[in-house]
Amino acid sequence: MEGTMGRFEGKVAVVTGAGAGIGKACALAIAREGGRVVVADIDGSAAAACTAQIAAEAGHALALAIDIAEAQAVAALFERADRHFGGVDLLVNNASAMHLTLRDRAILDLDLAVWDETMATNLRGTLLCCRQAIPGMIVRGGGAIVNMSSCQGLSGDTALTSYAASKAAMNMVSASLATQYGHAQIRCNAVAPGLIMTERLVAKLDECMQRHLRRHQLLPRVGRPEDVAALVAFLLSEDAAFITGQVVCIDGGMLAHVPTYADGGNSLSARSSGETAEAAQSPRY
Ligand SMILES: NC(=O)c1ccc[n+]([C@@H]2O[C@H](COP(=O)([O-])OP(=O)(O)OC[C@H]3O[C@@H](n4cnc5c(N)ncnc54)[C@H](O)[C@@H]3O)[C@@H](O)[C@H]2O)c1
Repeated sequence: MEGTMGRFEGKVAVVTGAGAGIGKACALAIAREGGRVVVADIDGSAAAACTAQIAAEAGHALALAIDIAEAQAVAALFERADRHFGGVDLLVNNASAMHLTLRDRAILDLDLAVWDETMATNLRGTLLCCRQAIPGMIVRGGGAIVNMSSCQGLSGDTALTSYAASKAAMNMVSASLATQYGHAQIRCNAVAPGLIMTERLVAKLDECMQRHLRRHQLLPRVGRPEDVAALVAFLLSEDAAFITGQVVCIDGGMLAHVPTYADGGNSLSARSSGETAEAAQSPRY
């Protein structure tokens, strides 16, 4: 951990949902570059395990069990961070109620409780964390915030109505925050991942489904939590000192192309290899 890079030496970061997946990779990346990290997660034992891993690598971290949807718990989180590490410079709003995506549906079939709970965690929880972080950042002369959005917040989905709307709204919270507090040297950006194979998704998506999703990327591999963590670390660091209010996609090119050009061999290369465009575009499971 006492590496040579150290972009976060002397900085304190709060990462929500840092017990697993992308959030855990972000916490590790920040700690490996000298940052002290508050590992906040609704799953206290997952937070403790991440903190233990950081400590084993000679980094500094504090585990806190917290539901970001609870305003008082969020306030307590930032009080603990202040007391333990002396103020917060960096915030990664990564936690989302992923379990609710299983119950998300098309608009006419949607259980409004799922909509409300999704918004309460993903959107309101993000807002609550920002509201707790901003005053201290103003006093400390600045800070950086990354909100974990999704490609799903930039394109329609057959079922993920609530999740997608919460992510699109998080993009606008990011732009509003950047607009309102840029004068205080606080930067805020959103990161929009495509398919990222976390432990949770490895267990959930079978190989057939993974292949189907990969067909719609331009790069021929799945995304990894470390890919997203590297982008988050860049956006939090001074290397991104003049970047704010942006939504940055990290999706292997999923949203960057005309859909019919996916599958590596697009219709043009299919034609040159003698295959019909229709054949090239049909699913290959
Ligand atoms: N994995 C992907 O393909 C993908 C794609 C796009 C966006 N994202 C976004 O990345 C973020 C992380 O996703 P992931 O795939 O790593 O998820 P994950 O399920 O692997 O990890 C999420 C972590 O958040 C915690 N958490 C859930 N609800 C919480 C709450 N209310 N308060 C505090 N912690 C809570 C969980 O306990 C878990 O440790 C999410 O915001 C998700 O929307 C993920």
